[in-house]
Amino acid sequence: MDALSNLHQRVSIAALEAPGPTSQQLDNMYRAAVRAPDHGAIQPWRFLNIAGDARQKLGELYLRAMAADQSLSPEQQTKFKNMPLRAPLIIVAIASTKDHPKVPRSEQVIAASCAVQNMLLAAHAQGLGAIWRTGELAYHPVVMEGLGLQEGEEIVGYLYVGTPMRERTAPQPDIDQFVSDWG
Ligand SMILES: Cc1cc2nc3c(=O)[nH]c(=O)nc-3n(C[C@H](O)[C@H](O)[C@H](O)COP(=O)(O)O)c2cc1C
Repeated sequence: MDALSNLHQRVSIAALEAPGPTSQQLDNMYRAAVRAPDHGAIQPWRFLNIAGDARQKLGELYLRAMAADQSLSPEQQTKFKNMPLRAPLIIVAIASTKDHPKVPRSEQVIAASCAVQNMLLAAHAQGLGAIWRTGELAYHPVVMEGLGLQEGEEIVGYLYVGTPMRERTAPQPDIDQFVSDWG
């Protein structure tokens, strides 16, 4: 697939199955990630690969976090425990921001987010399916601690990656809706 077609046609795929990416495919995704624009060359990102049985551990962490706030029905417990089983690989994308005289933390989070988009594009270019997810489990202090986040770090997303269970076609919105001339 040529580069522009990849950009125009990328879609998120929620229905994912094994196999996950090969080590070569994953390496390509990370090499794309670290080519994100990065003011000050801070490299304000790090990533956790969660695959295999580690996904069950993540589900238990999700459950612990949600159960800390409220009592959960058995159905809700199952739902939180099974969330990470929706793909063979989950990449936790962490913005790892630093104090910098010229680059505010917000810009560093943007750079880390660009890294995630590069990974989505690299996944799509290789025929993999992927979706960027967040939700309350990306911001919960119990989850952040359990995943080992440090001061200045935040989760910008969970990237679910695997083999697409079905095809999806990219919508093609009317570009004129978003673009105008000024001056
Ligand atoms: C920061 C961020 C967080 C997101 N969180 C979720 C989420 O928790 N659940 C979800 O279904 N989609 C989430 N999305 C949207 C999907 O990743 C995806 O973009 C959307 O389903 C539209 O599909 P498309 O990328 O093919 O246009 C999020 C997107 C971004 C950028």
